[in-house]
Amino acid sequence: MHRGKGMKFVGDSRVPAERKPNIPKDYSEYPGKTEAFWPNFLLKEWMVGAVFLIGYLCLTIAHPSPLERVADPTDTGYLPLPDWYFLFLYQLLKYTYASGPYNIIGAFIIPGLAFGALMLAPFIDRGPKRRPTQRPFATGFMLLSIASIIFLTWESVVAVDWEAKEAMGKIVEEAEIDTSSDGFVVYEENGCINCHGDNLAGGSAAPSLVGTGLTAEEVADIAKNGVGKMPPGMYKGNDEDLAKLSEFISTLEAK
Ligand code: HEC
Repeated sequence: MHRGKGMKFVGDSRVPAERKPNIPKDYSEYPGKTEAFWPNFLLKEWMVGAVFLIGYLCLTIAHPSPLERVADPTDTGYLPLPDWYFLFLYQLLKYTYASGPYNIIGAFIIPGLAFGALMLAPFIDRGPKRRPTQRPFATGFMLLSIASIIFLTWESVVAVDWEAKEAMGKIVEEAEIDTSSDGFVVYEENGCINCHGDNLAGGSAAPSLVGTGLTAEEVADIAKNGVGKMPPGMYKGNDEDLAKLSEFISTLEAK
C-alpha cells in the first residue's frame, strides 16, 4: 500500500479513493491452516458423499418403494390416494365448502392464496427485524400453516382403512388361465368370478386364488361352506362339477 504523497482519500481518511479489487490471498500464505481444493478437499467431499450414497442404498433395499399392481381402470373398487405430501390438499376437497359445486375453492382459491402469499412474502414482509419473535405476523402465519397442514394430513390419514388399501393395490401373482377348461366354466357359472375375478387374481372383494396351497378337498369345502368373510353356499352345482372346480383352483400356479 502506498502511503502519503499521491494518495487520495474520500473525505474520510480511512477510505482510499481508488478501490482495489478484493482478491483473497493465496492459500499458501496460511501455512498449516488451509488445504488444496484438488485433491485433498474434493476427496473428503467424495468420501462423505459415498457414506450417504451407501446409507441411502441400504435404506432403499430395506424399504422397497411401495409399488402397487398395474392400474386397472375397470376396477371400481380401487381407491386411489395421493402420496402423503399431498394428503392435506386432498383432504381440503372433502369439506362441503370446498367440494362439489365449490370445488374451485378447494382446488384453486385456498391453495392459490396460500402459495401466492408465500411468493409475495419477500415483498410484504419487508421489516428490518430478523428474529422470529420480532415478526409476529410472519411467524404467526407460518405456525398457522404448519398446524393446518399437519391437521389436514392427520384427518386424511385416519379416514383411510390402510389394511384394505394395501389389499386393493397388492401385486398378485397371475396364472395362465385356461378359460375353456371345465373347471373355469364351473367357476364362471357359480359366480365365483364376480368376487375372485376373471383371472382368479382377486380384487377389492376377494383374495387371489392363485397358488393358495389349498388341496382340492379344502377348496371344495370353502366353495360350499365359505371361509372368513366369504359367505357359505356360493357353490350351487353338483358334486361332479365341484370336483372339477376344486381341482382347477387347487392346481393354479403362478406363471
Ligand atoms: C361374495 C364374494 C365371493 C364369492 C362369490 C366367492 N368368494 Fe371365495 N372368497 C371371498 C372372500 C372375501 C374370501 C376371503 C375370506 C377370508 O379369508 O376372510 C374368499 C376366499 C376363498 C378361498 C380361500 C382362499 C385362500 O387363499 O385361503 C377359496 C378357495 C375361495 N374363496 C373359493 C371360491 C369359490 C370356488 C367360489 C365360487 C363357488 C367363491 N370363492 C366365490 C369372496 C367370495
